[in-house]
Amino acid sequence: GDHEVAARGARVRYRDALASGNRGPMPDKITLEVFRYRPDQEQRPTSQSYEVPYQEDWVVLDALNWIKDQQDGTLSYRWSCRMGVCGSCGMMVNGVPKLTCSAFLRDLLPGPIKVEPLSGFPVERDLVVVLDDFMQKLVDVKPWIIREVEQPVEQGEYRQTPGQLVDFKQYSMCINCALCYAACPVLASDPDFVGPAAIALGHRYNLDSRDEGNAERFETFNSHDGVYACSFANECSQVCPKHVDPAMAIQQAKLNDFMQWAKILPKKNFT
Ligand code: FES
Repeated sequence: GDHEVAARGARVRYRDALASGNRGPMPDKITLEVFRYRPDQEQRPTSQSYEVPYQEDWVVLDALNWIKDQQDGTLSYRWSCRMGVCGSCGMMVNGVPKLTCSAFLRDLLPGPIKVEPLSGFPVERDLVVVLDDFMQKLVDVKPWIIREVEQPVEQGEYRQTPGQLVDFKQYSMCINCALCYAACPVLASDPDFVGPAAIALGHRYNLDSRDEGNAERFETFNSHDGVYACSFANECSQVCPKHVDPAMAIQQAKLNDFMQWAKILPKKNFT
């Protein structure tokens, strides 16, 4: 009867309120202010406004894809997996480094939403940044298992207990999205700083029970732009979409580095 109809109405209103995050009526459209830079056509970057349909379940990347498909095929940006795995869709969203495939429009209402390339990186075109320096830093920490003497293949693989895996697993979850580089205040003033993701990655190998490469990574870690350049602002850990906690990795790496230094010191000075 009436009671049932009223209850159904309340349920529908409740569901709608949940769906809209209790933010009132949903808009039809939302505006994106997108950073544009086409080095072949213009001297300096500009900002371009696009009005896109608002969809409850859309993320910023969906809006960019809609722009590219429906409004402006010249817009350039990177993406691949659309599920927070590949790490290629990082951009500044309202000034904060984010994976655009995980940044829901509904959390950015009412707009406009400012979309810019990751800060701190040279811009190749529009929202695409040059990552060469970042990639080189990842290589510099030698992110592979280093052995003093390789065990013969017939002896099988290097075994590891679940406990030994836990020691470094968190630091192996990085997807190289570089959001932490865009967030790091040290990198903003010292671009040569090895940086959060690369230090966390090197530290991951230093912690690996199968690895014997601590001394080989020492030079990079202990350099002027190594672990001690970190001021522990913790911004990197706050923006990390995978909860790698690179700031913690760097603090541990400092301690580890100090112990390496203590090991090396007597050899250097007294032999
Ligand atoms: Fe792969 Fe966003 S598209 S992480």
